[in-house]
Amino acid sequence: MKNNILKGKKGIIFGALDSSSIAWKTAESVFNEGGEFILTNAPVSIRMGSINELAEKTKSELVAADATSLEDLEKLINIATDKFGKLDFILHSIGMSVNVRKGRTYTDLNYDWLTKGWDVSAVSFHKLMQSLFKLDAMNQWGSIVALTYIAAQRAFPNYNDMADNKAYLESIARSFGYIFGKEKNVRVNTISQSPTLTTAGKGVKGLDDFLNYAQLTSPLGNATAEDCANLTVSLFSDYTKRVTLQNIFNDGGFSNVGVSQEIIDKLNSK
Ligand SMILES: NC(=O)c1ccc[n+]([C@@H]2O[C@H](COP(=O)([O-])OP(=O)(O)OC[C@H]3O[C@@H](n4cnc5c(N)ncnc54)[C@H](O)[C@@H]3O)[C@@H](O)[C@H]2O)c1
Repeated sequence: MKNNILKGKKGIIFGALDSSSIAWKTAESVFNEGGEFILTNAPVSIRMGSINELAEKTKSELVAADATSLEDLEKLINIATDKFGKLDFILHSIGMSVNVRKGRTYTDLNYDWLTKGWDVSAVSFHKLMQSLFKLDAMNQWGSIVALTYIAAQRAFPNYNDMADNKAYLESIARSFGYIFGKEKNVRVNTISQSPTLTTAGKGVKGLDDFLNYAQLTSPLGNATAEDCANLTVSLFSDYTKRVTLQNIFNDGGFSNVGVSQEIIDKLNSK
C-alpha cells in the first residue's frame, strides 16, 4: 500500500532488531506511507542486529537508547524534537523475559530476572510516556502504540512471566492513555498480535505449536508482522483520531473463538 496517509507525520520507532522484527516491518510501512522517524534500540541490540540497514533503507537517523533508562529516553526525545519539532507517533515494540531466555519455569521464577523483564517489557512503556509527557513532546492528536499478546488475558503456560508483563503493559496504556487524552489529545493503544516468528517470538517455548494452534483456530488465520505494521499505520493516521485506550486484537479472530472445526477434526483423526 502506498497512499501517503502519514505524510508530514514524524515519530520514533523502538524495537527493530532484524528483518523479522514487527518494528522493522512497521518502519518500512510507515516510510512507504510518507512518515519520517528516528529508529532506536538498545546499544547491544544495535551491535547484534542489522538495524543500520533499515536506517539506510528508510532514510532514518538511528539513536541508541536503553528503554529502561530515563536518561537515555530523555536524550532520545530531545534529539527527535530538535530534528522534527513535536512528534506525531511512537511505536513501543519491546519485550524480553530473562526467565524465558534462561528456561526458568513459571513455578521456579528468579525474581531478579522477573524484575528486569518487567522493567524492559512493561515499565519502559511508562517511562517512555512519562518522558514524552514531561517534555511536552507529542503533537495534539498524536498516537502512541505498544505491542502485546493475548496471554495478558488468557492462560498460555509457556508464555511464563511475559504474560504478567503484558497485563501490566496494557494497564499502563489505559492509565496513561486517559491522562494523555485528557491533557494533550494524544491516543494510546495496544495491539494484541498473533504469534509471529521473530527473535523474541522464537524465545517462547513451543512457539511453533502456538502458531499452528492459532492458525487452525482463527477464521482469518494468523496476522503477520506486515498485517501488524499496517494496523499500526492506521493507528498513527488521522483515520483513527478517536480510537484510544483500546487493546486491539490483530489475530484473525482468534480471541473470540472457543474452538474451531479444524481443531476438532484434528483431535478426531487421532
Ligand atoms: N513475536 C510474537 O509472537 C509476538 C506476539 C505478540 C506480541 N509481540 C510483541 O511484539 C513486540 C516486538 O517483538 P518482536 O516479536 O518483533 O521481536 P524482536 O525480538 O524483533 O523485538 C523485541 C525488541 O525489543 C528490544 N529490546 C529489548 N530490550 C530492550 C531495551 N532495554 N531497550 C530497548 N529495546 C529493547 C530488542 O532489541 C528487540 O528489538 C514485543 O513487545 C513482543 O512482546 C510479539
